[in-house]
Amino acid sequence: MKHIAIFASGSGSNAENIIRYFNDKKNAKVALVLSNKPDAYVIKRAEKLNVPVKVFNREDFYNSNNVLDTLISYNIDFIVLAGFLWLVPENILRHYKRRIVNIHPALLPLYGGKGMYGDRVHRAVIESGDSESGITIHYVDEKYDNGDIIFQVRCRVEPGETPESLAAKIHELEYKYYPQIIEKLILEAK
Ligand code: GAR
Repeated sequence: MKHIAIFASGSGSNAENIIRYFNDKKNAKVALVLSNKPDAYVIKRAEKLNVPVKVFNREDFYNSNNVLDTLISYNIDFIVLAGFLWLVPENILRHYKRRIVNIHPALLPLYGGKGMYGDRVHRAVIESGDSESGITIHYVDEKYDNGDIIFQVRCRVEPGETPESLAAKIHELEYKYYPQIIEKLILEAK
């Protein structure tokens, strides 16, 4: 049984979807949720589903081994970022090389980088007049939205599309594909 940790900073609807997906699997489960935001809604979601939660601050993350030690103490094999807004530090990247993935709500390398998250991304896509957007699942490295791309899928941006309607379409794609891709990567790594 492989142990997954999810890092999230916000609502955590992807985190919840991933927890539920692996609830009935024998090969892997979500063993820990970590957040840099003490009031993030993801914490309530995880607690409701009986997944342990750890909250950490900048000092823990960037100037100590606290978060890495926590991951090791929970026997974490694989890390999933789901709406997590901080860069992952070197000590964790090194320990979990090619075992940390992120999802981005656009077709990287378009609309990525610092400050590009959530509705800001959808607004930028619509303002540019693009006729399509999508999701990107990629490995995590020391830069924002930069690691090797693992998977992309596209959707139409219709005339009259709003950031809210596009966000809803993108979330549907995320819920459908992110757990499946995570499972595939974990099984391949065996
Ligand atoms: C998701 O759409 C995810 O792709 C995006 O934040 C949202 C989190 O929603 N991530 C980024 O923009 C990262 N740059 P959720 O908290 O409901 O899962």
